[in-house]
Amino acid sequence: MENIDFNSVLNAIKPTDAENRKIKAISDKLINIINQIAKDRNIDAEAVLVGSVAKGTWLKGKGDIDIFIKFPLSIDEKDLKKSGLFLGHECIKMMQGNYELRYASHPYVTGFIEGFEVDFVPCYSIKSADKLKSAVDRTTLHTEYIKKNLKPEQKNEVILLKRFMESIHTYSAEFKVSGFSGYLCELLIIYYGSFSGVLKVAGEKWGPKTVIDIEKYGTGKHFSDPMVVIDPTDKNRNVAAALTLQKISEFIIASRNFRDEPKKDYFFEKYLKVDLNSIKTEFGNRNTKTILINFKPPEVPADALYPQIKKTKNSLKGVLEREDFRVFNTASWTDEKENVIIMLEMETWKLPAIKKNIGPFIWSKYHQLRFVEKYGNKAYVKGDRWIAEIQREHRDAESFIEDILAENKIGLLRFGKHIKNKILKKYRIMDILEFLESDKCSEDMLLFFYEYLNKNVYLWR
Ligand code: CTP
Ligand code: MG
Repeated sequence: MENIDFNSVLNAIKPTDAENRKIKAISDKLINIINQIAKDRNIDAEAVLVGSVAKGTWLKGKGDIDIFIKFPLSIDEKDLKKSGLFLGHECIKMMQGNYELRYASHPYVTGFIEGFEVDFVPCYSIKSADKLKSAVDRTTLHTEYIKKNLKPEQKNEVILLKRFMESIHTYSAEFKVSGFSGYLCELLIIYYGSFSGVLKVAGEKWGPKTVIDIEKYGTGKHFSDPMVVIDPTDKNRNVAAALTLQKISEFIIASRNFRDEPKKDYFFEKYLKVDLNSIKTEFGNRNTKTILINFKPPEVPADALYPQIKKTKNSLKGVLEREDFRVFNTASWTDEKENVIIMLEMETWKLPAIKKNIGPFIWSKYHQLRFVEKYGNKAYVKGDRWIAEIQREHRDAESFIEDILAENKIGLLRFGKHIKNKILKKYRIMDILEFLESDKCSEDMLLFFYEYLNKNVYLWR
């Protein structure tokens, strides 16, 4: 990989010294404010800086500040939330920022302060993971572990890896991506030494069930995820639990592509030429039928929304296939606020009026009687089986979907009740060609359709 000048890449993707000083100064200020308010109000809490800013592994332009407010284990969860959110709010107010309440495994406040996004997360102060009370309590342990074990010169390697992952669309443990988290990237660098080291092993050595156990706890066998990275701070947690097989594969393929032909472009977002007319032509030429279901998302946190959409999509696919409508491919998209799109590309969307109903074997007279009683002269014998040719209930995929999305039938679908209520209220069902012509189709949706037609487009440059 001699022909890539990593320093010039780093110059473009790494925060400058000035940016580093600024973000550190703001973080310190916020922490001091919180600790001062806590002191004045007699609240037993301590704010600490965690996440990539604390670890020196943040990317230029992506400086979200993670501040955790630690409480003693003796306080109960209700008070922890209340005091934690209070301290966050007060601090944001003093800094004249705007705020937004968010939820992970528990609520936290996000402030927008002087151009930075700051998360204030209440948590318990723990020294080791066996004292853990909520999922976020580990984060302070993570930060300490990385600060202690990541060598100073490896920070650049983490930044390269995170940026590479980001531009091939495999970075982030959020549901939307279900890829590699920042902490996972850091552990990979600690384990394999460098950016090039990670790519080499991923492309050449990773197998169907890779286990990485840095601290040699020996707990890998307890997990069944596609990749297992035992948390050095907690032997009972897989850091890669949110990582999907899809994203592992994508990373492996991009690593091979990069190593075969290294290019700086791999560290930057790919430029795509998204054009309405060519998308229309391409869908038209496929001669499939692509049905879109469009509705407003329910007001639930993003981490709850994505799984619900996925479940709804899979459930629709299931009922269609049970009725003999063959589904070629499915996809879904949301902007998390105004629109959800579930896309069903059909291989079969029209069916004849009749279908075969395969009945019992002829050997049993008892079953023959029951079958013939039911189907009369529609029943006949073929080989050693009874068969009846009967009328199909559903002959058109689109009207079948409309039928099952109606109130009395929607129970047949398995999906989150929030989505169910939204769909029952109002949804739109359209053919993609019609949708592309309509004013409903935004730039972001167009990109989604482009990505659907050009799968894995981000994996090569
Ligand atoms: N964390 C975690 N598991 C997740 C998400 C977050 O353990 N799925 C913890 C990690 O310790 C992480 C911290 O929360 O360091 C902050 O989360 P986040 O901001 O998502 O990650 P960063 O490491 O700060 O990376 P980035 O540069 O993307 O902000
Ligand atoms: Mg962060």
